[in-house]
Amino acid sequence: MQDYKDIIAEILIDEKTLQERIKALGDQISQDYHAQDLLLICILRGGLVFMVDLMRHITVPHALDCMALTSYGVGARASTGNIRMSLDLQTNIENKNVLLVEDIVDSGFTLFHVLEMLQTRRPKSLKVCALLDKEERREISVPIHYRGFSIPNKFVFGYGLDLDEYYRNLPFVAVVDLEKYKPPSA
Ligand code: PRP
Repeated sequence: MQDYKDIIAEILIDEKTLQERIKALGDQISQDYHAQDLLLICILRGGLVFMVDLMRHITVPHALDCMALTSYGVGARASTGNIRMSLDLQTNIENKNVLLVEDIVDSGFTLFHVLEMLQTRRPKSLKVCALLDKEERREISVPIHYRGFSIPNKFVFGYGLDLDEYYRNLPFVAVVDLEKYKPPSA
């Protein structure tokens, strides 16, 4: 794989800005769930890095769980909307305060389907915390109760978001230079 420095068009959100916003989100969540229990649910894999940083700023007692999704049918998830759970939760969420943690909301299909699936399990409350919101791309309306940043319709990577599964570890969100980036299959 190429060095990340060779494929960055611009750094969209730098590390300091990200971490300050994540702390503010954690503080807000801690206030809102004061004296209540909470279950954080990470949607693998993109949400992982964000959740790990976010949870260290949440001061109310909380547990965590993860779930994974697979898209099927023709095309990418965003264009098909065909999504099923490929890794289910280990936790029974009935009567629990659930906060879904996502790295990015794009078309909204992923979140829409996850919320629909989880609602049938009768949580006490079900809210969403998304680090990045690419509103311009929305195809279906979904609630975002805690939003990190609204971002333009650019191809971003880093801080959990991958390019062909790489670069999730970068501590910032960057825009890829599509003229320089060569996917592994190319
Ligand atoms: C990304 C992201 C969201 C979803 C958002 O996941 O983590 O789950 O896409 O897109 P949508 O709003 O158009 O549905 P991706 O499929 O890239 O998997 P990953 O998290 O494993 O990288």
